[in-house]
Amino acid sequence: MALKLPSVALPAMASFGSPKFSMASIVHPGLKKVENLKTTLMPHQDQQVQVKHSMPPQKMEIFKSLDKWVADNILIHLKSPEKSWQPQDFLPDSKSDGFFEQVKELQERAKGIPDDYFVVLVGDMITEEALPTYQTILNITDGIKDETGASLSSWAIWNRAWTAEENRHGDLLNKYLYLSGRVDMRQIEKTIQYLIGAGMDWKMENNPYLTFIYTSFQERATFISHKNTAKLAGEYGDTELAKVCGFIAADEKRHEAAYTKIIEKLFKIDPDETVQAFASMMRKRITMPAHLMYDGRDENLFDHFSTVAQRLGVYTTKDYTDVLEFLVDRWKVKELTGLSGDGRKAQDYVCELPLRLRKLEEKAHLIAKQAPTISFSWI
Ligand SMILES: [Fe+2]
Ligand SMILES: [Fe+2]
Repeated sequence: MALKLPSVALPAMASFGSPKFSMASIVHPGLKKVENLKTTLMPHQDQQVQVKHSMPPQKMEIFKSLDKWVADNILIHLKSPEKSWQPQDFLPDSKSDGFFEQVKELQERAKGIPDDYFVVLVGDMITEEALPTYQTILNITDGIKDETGASLSSWAIWNRAWTAEENRHGDLLNKYLYLSGRVDMRQIEKTIQYLIGAGMDWKMENNPYLTFIYTSFQERATFISHKNTAKLAGEYGDTELAKVCGFIAADEKRHEAAYTKIIEKLFKIDPDETVQAFASMMRKRITMPAHLMYDGRDENLFDHFSTVAQRLGVYTTKDYTDVLEFLVDRWKVKELTGLSGDGRKAQDYVCELPLRLRKLEEKAHLIAKQAPTISFSWI
């Protein structure tokens, strides 16, 4: 079978289109106008058949029966608002007399940071800001959705509290970038509006097995990415920004712990389905949440952003493989026994995949290094 490269860090190989929008089409009056507006707002994705509700209905019981286990083992990874950091802890205080002085200092520190770094930080912030889409995904997932908006199930409590914690990430980065004086906020805000409007289809099929494989992978990937922006900010001499990225990374790490624990539990209860879900997501490739980002200008914005992230070493093809290898070890996939034929095939696939991906790392690095410098509307 042909090996697909992870598009996350391999812009040239990415197969996703950007949303395409035509403002000219909405000027006509009447019904045509409504129809055209819909087309205008619709994301341009590869219009494959969308698979829905692929989990066999009898497996719903598994998730219902885990409610107490989630309360005891998963909710403990969350922090209450009283014990959480808030964006304001890292930002100039607009009600203090020294506000303008603090903003000036922030801008002085930001002056020593290269543009490429800001491209990556903006891309990370835009990804965080598309949070409404991620909460939507959790709430269309069978067995774990919040059915009322204030459901008392442990799964729903997790979904809401996780979202509430994540919401601080976009807020903090957004405000920091605004104050830095280094970026075009209007272009960034437009990109966020486009991205949330575009939605995302990660092919998780309303299936909690697939969803939690994805979230496990994604939380670890964002942990690595924020940890690396923290490290770089330190190297550029901005220890305050390093702190900002470091605290966000620590949140992602807690979330990773929770999601990987859920999959660990599913491996115990239902190893066959779980290993097949793991293989299925890896075959589809785990794409970064914001792969449909668009700023109204650059049709390949996500690819260009990924190239810079690879070049800077913030999130690379090597990181992608590292995450995969980590998860294979974390869930002891190699040691699984008693699987069905399809289960064994899935097990072999995920266990051998890291080795195959390693061979592509050097090439991906070279592609990114040799890619021409692109100008971003954000900077
Ligand atoms: Fe986050
Ligand atoms: Fe996260």
